[in-house]
This record gives sequence, C-alpha cells and structure tokens, in this order.
Amino acid sequence: MPSCHENIVILDFGSQYTQLIARRIREAQVHSVILPSSSSLETIQALNPKGIIFSGGPASVTEVVAPSWISAILEKDIPLLGICYGMQLLAQKLGGAVGCAERREFGRADLTVTDEHDLFKGVSPQRTFPVWMSHGDHIEAVPPGFSIMAHTPSVPIAAMKSVTNGKKIFCLQFHPEVVHTTNGTAILRNFVHDICQCQPSWTMSSFLQKTVHDIRETVGTRRVICGLSGGVDSSVAAALTHHAIGKQLTCVFIDNGLLRKHESAQLEQVFSSYADFQFRIRDHTDDFLRALAHVANPEQKRKIIGREFIKAFDKEAKAIGRVEFLVQGTLYPDVIESISAKGPSATIKTHHNVGGLPARMKLKVIEPLRELFKDEVRKLGEELGLPEDMIHRHPFPGPGLAVRILGSVTPERLAMLREADAIVDDEIRQSGLYREIWQVFAVLLPIRTVGVMGDRRTYEHVLAVRAVTSVDGMTADWAKIPHDVLARLSNRIINAVSGVNRVVYDISSKPPSTIEWE
Ligand code: XMP
Repeated sequence: MPSCHENIVILDFGSQYTQLIARRIREAQVHSVILPSSSSLETIQALNPKGIIFSGGPASVTEVVAPSWISAILEKDIPLLGICYGMQLLAQKLGGAVGCAERREFGRADLTVTDEHDLFKGVSPQRTFPVWMSHGDHIEAVPPGFSIMAHTPSVPIAAMKSVTNGKKIFCLQFHPEVVHTTNGTAILRNFVHDICQCQPSWTMSSFLQKTVHDIRETVGTRRVICGLSGGVDSSVAAALTHHAIGKQLTCVFIDNGLLRKHESAQLEQVFSSYADFQFRIRDHTDDFLRALAHVANPEQKRKIIGREFIKAFDKEAKAIGRVEFLVQGTLYPDVIESISAKGPSATIKTHHNVGGLPARMKLKVIEPLRELFKDEVRKLGEELGLPEDMIHRHPFPGPGLAVRILGSVTPERLAMLREADAIVDDEIRQSGLYREIWQVFAVLLPIRTVGVMGDRRTYEHVLAVRAVTSVDGMTADWAKIPHDVLARLSNRIINAVSGVNRVVYDISSKPPSTIEWE
C-alpha cells in the first residue's frame, strides 16, 4: 500500500483499541496506517513511517517471542511510542524488567506527571489527571537510558522515555487513545506533531484531490460500474468516482423490493442533480420475492438475497456492455478486519453487501474509500456536496426489510412493515433524536394478538420498534427514547397501518441480542 502522505505506522498486537489509535492520529490530521505485528520489515519500511506506534495487546511479553523486525526498527532513528503491551515489549527488548502483576489493573487511574516535556508538553495545567488502564504486566525497572515521566498510585512507571543521539522512544502504560483518558488526544498530538514532526496536512480536500487523480490514472478511458445501494458508503464512493471520471461511470441500483419507502426515488433525486450521471434503477422485485416465497429461516433468506443480487447485478452489468472496473465502498475497518492479528470470528449472520460479487465477472476492483473510517467518509460526502440527509442516514442491512419480517416475506407483510417503518423514521426525525440514535426501525412479528378498535374485536399483527445507540454497530444499547415519542409513534402506527393492533419496544442490548432481529 504505497502512499505519498507522511505516515505514522501503528503495529497491531491485537488490542481492541488499535483502531482508536488510528482515529486519534487522523484527527490530528496525520495519516496513519495499521499493520499487523506479523508484517515484514519491508512492508513497514515501504510506508516510510515518520513514527511507529506499538499498540497494546492481550499477550504477555513474558510468554511471547518478540517480532523479528524489532531489532532493525530499534536501530533506526524513527521515533517510537509503545502503548501498554507495546511498552512492555520495548522495555523487555531494551533491557528493562517486566513483571507479572499480582493485581491486574483495568479502568480509571490517576496519573501524576513528573516530566512535563515532550509527550506531556502543555497537555494539562494539572499534573494529575485520570487515565485508562488495562493491563496485567507492568514495568519493574526502566531500561538503561530511560527516565520515568509519570506514575499512578499503583504503577510507579506509568510513562517513560529515552531521548538520546537522535533516537526518541516513549512508552505509556495507559491508553491515550480511549476517551476516558483525559488529555489523551493532546498526548498523541504531541507525539505526531512535535516528536515525529508530521505536518497536519491529512484533510478531506487533500484526500479528495489525490484520490481523484489516482482513479483517473487507473481507469484511463475505460468504463466503470458501481452498485449503488443508497447507503452512505456506496453513495460517497459513487459521487467520488463520478467526480473523477464523469460519464465513464455507470451506477446501477437494484430494487430488490425489500427497501424502505421512497428509497429509490430519493436516490434518484439526489443523483439527478449531478451532470452526466449515468444511473440505472432496475426493478428486480419479482425475482427476489419469488425466490423468497415460503422461506422463514433467517440464514436461508440472507443467502437467497445474496444470490439473487449477484444474478441481478450480473445481468445489468452485461447490459451496459464492456466494463472493466467495479467501484466498491469498502472502508478501512473492513480492510483491517481482513488483515487483523485476531483470528476469524464465528458467523452470527451471513452478511452480504453490494461488494461481494463473483470472481467470474472479471472486474478489477476500485476501492476509493479503503483508507477511510466512517466519519471520514461522511466528511468526504459533505465535501462532494451530498445532502446531509444522505450522509447521516442510519445503516440499512443489505437483505433489507426481509430480515425485519419474521417468518416468510410476502408483498402484504412488506407493505405493512414499510408503512410502519416510515412512521417510525418520521417520528424520530421530528423529535430531533435521529442523529443521536445509531439505528431505528420497525420489525413485523409473526404473531397476532387480540385488540379492540371502535368496539370491534381485532386479531392482528404485533410490530416491534427497535432503536439503539452505538459507536460502530459491534455493541449497542437500546435507546432511551422519551415515552411521549414512543406514545406518538405507537398511536400513529396503530391508526394508520391496517393489520397492526399492537406496538412493543425492544429493550435488549447487543450483546447478548443483535441489532437486527434476524
Ligand atoms: P447485527 O444485527 O449483526 O447488526 O447486530 C450489526 C449492524 O450490521 C447491519 N447489518 C448488515 N449490514 N449487510 C449489511 O450491510 C448485512 O447483511 C447486514 N446485516 C446486519 C445492521 O443493520 C447493524 O447496523
């Protein structure tokens, strides 16, 4: 992954916070790249790093063999920052003593800074402030040439440094990258700006310029296809590629009949304002609904939808003629996930996205967002003039409303859910809660209950409302929506959606539940 930015390389030893380190550094407008700790020396050097950060990790240095590149890295004049496990690794390699704690330490600790230079320069008028600890091992003796910069009541060596002959090494026992560490961002800024001397030049407009140039170079005069789903990622990827190559790009939107109300119309409206935007909206509802008929099993539904999507996209791509490239909205977390130091995780749900197309289509893939995190993609979307509504819209799963209809999917159930879902969405937007909620939607349950409407007995469907707060969708809490908002949306749904006589609110967090019901 060669790059013309100034880079900070983060070597990932498996910490759950590694992505956060990268985020913080990019917030300081410096480009950062995460590499697995198993990377070769050549891979690390190819990025020409201006600084290297060793992340935390679950292992103990007393048990694990140090990576082969470590001696070579230590010989170079590149500034180093070791965090938690990274600190212990550096300490051990440089001749310090690392001990196993009798008492592991997780959570808040009060750090007292005794050396207010370098990393701690100007970070706080107070010498003591809260930091976040998460470690088993700790440093018992600093390596030769190191001095202590800070301590906590239970950790005498909470930060240390060695600044000799042009070589600068800093180590922190706590995690500056997590929000619970006061002044953590300032500490990391000091590392990248002052110690590594990186210019704060990583901005969305510099990224935009460079990426447009790269896309033009790669594509030349050839043709490109992009599957638009209406989500933030594919919309920004499409807008960016269109900015670069105009009508050489054709976007295809497959209407699978499982979309929210007005979805395709809204998308068409946004992109119709782009000059020369080649946009094909294709309705494949019948194919999808036929394939889904009588299928109630969630995994089977997901697999069928994935397969139908590929069939539909393949057909539409062929209709365009000779196309050589496919644009995908892959983001940096997906890239890291696939190269991560961690092992494969169990399949909870088969995910399918616009990207997963078969190799036989022989399209070369362009992933213009593969260096970006989600909030950076949103900023880029703003830069490209996409409407706020689109940039901040909630995630919507590839299999759409099908995984929000428990039991089999029929046109009648889809119509019911779509109507109710639109009411939920509207009420949450009107109440001003949309931006603080990660996702809000309705789920149609496969049971019926007794009710009474206008003196008549009813026996109709139950609808669940799901709203969660989350940072990344990996974990989530149910949203504490005010009761009056819940009352309004329940009332509106039961009055307006025929076939529904009861609304319930889902109060489960993830884990142990998931966000989507299927
Ligand atoms: P779960 O239900 O696993 O969802 O807690 C986590 C997040 O992923 C979204 N989701 C999907 N997104 N394709 C997607 O692009 C899918 O197949 C898919 N399934 C779930 C879900 O909406 C939530 O944001």
